[in-house]
Amino acid sequence: KRKVIIDCDPGIDDSLALMLALSSLEIEVLGITIVCGNAPLQLGFANAKKVLRHMNRLDVPIYLGADKPLQKPFCDALDTHGSDGLGESYLEEVAGYEQNIDAVSFLCETLTKEACSIIALGPLTNLAHLIQQNAAAFANIEQLVSMGGSYKAHGNCSPVAEYNYWEDPEAAAIVYHEMERLQKQIHMVGLDVTRKIVLTPNLLSYIERLDAKQGSFIRKITKFYYDFHWKQEHLIGCVINDPLAVAYFLNPAICSGFSSNVQVACDGLSRGQTIVDAYDFYQRKANAHILTQVDVHAFFRLFISRILAIPTD
Ligand code: BDR
Ligand code: CA
Repeated sequence: KRKVIIDCDPGIDDSLALMLALSSLEIEVLGITIVCGNAPLQLGFANAKKVLRHMNRLDVPIYLGADKPLQKPFCDALDTHGSDGLGESYLEEVAGYEQNIDAVSFLCETLTKEACSIIALGPLTNLAHLIQQNAAAFANIEQLVSMGGSYKAHGNCSPVAEYNYWEDPEAAAIVYHEMERLQKQIHMVGLDVTRKIVLTPNLLSYIERLDAKQGSFIRKITKFYYDFHWKQEHLIGCVINDPLAVAYFLNPAICSGFSSNVQVACDGLSRGQTIVDAYDFYQRKANAHILTQVDVHAFFRLFISRILAIPTD
């Protein structure tokens, strides 16, 4: 089994991504590390516990990471995810489950002793702290997949920036820079591909018909998200970014793209923008594999079959 740590800021789509990962038996989720992003840190922790309880997987440890970005002031995305960070579902709280080490210590310990990949679904603050504290442990990451950035797609936080990298651009810049130094590539699952992953009302009804328990949970946590997308852009459905990063980790054939050098801008109008040097102007090492195409049907076949545990392939 491939081992993985999921670094996230749950968040509605993070929660769907956790559900997909936990239903995929070919991977072992060693732990979940929380970063502030969509929700403040403690709210993200509370939401991760709610998802684990729903999946009957409270055995998976959750570790608390950064409660603020490296330099910029913290700016949550509760306008998108609801005041509880989980679509205003206000599910019953789960008490306890605090670990006695923090996220970066857990990452250091795990990466020092075993091969493990990381799927990052939020701002890259925890990973930047890891580089600053133990670059050797960071270098041991087997595969690093990050939902964030955009190549040609319009931003969702500014005209040019995606939320995760906009929220903590210094952290993203450190991670991309370190990947370049290590001559490795981060798998950038950005808005070019995730914007195409729209959970439509039809798909949700289909899921409900097949599995009332999963369907009603997803309906509860996505209702706010549907309303948000309608108000924001008149989209009938909601874009679920984060599960695509997990799906790509499970089956890379779902997406395709190209490798290039990427730098992250930190300030001014371009804050959080991923500068993708597709024509190699800067003559720098390719530090990223940028996904540009996605087989949407393959994604939903995988997502639905896994979370409902019914084989469709
Ligand atoms: C990303 O930002 C968050 O709102 C989502 O959880 C996702 O990780 C999309 O830009
Ligand atoms: Ca997220």
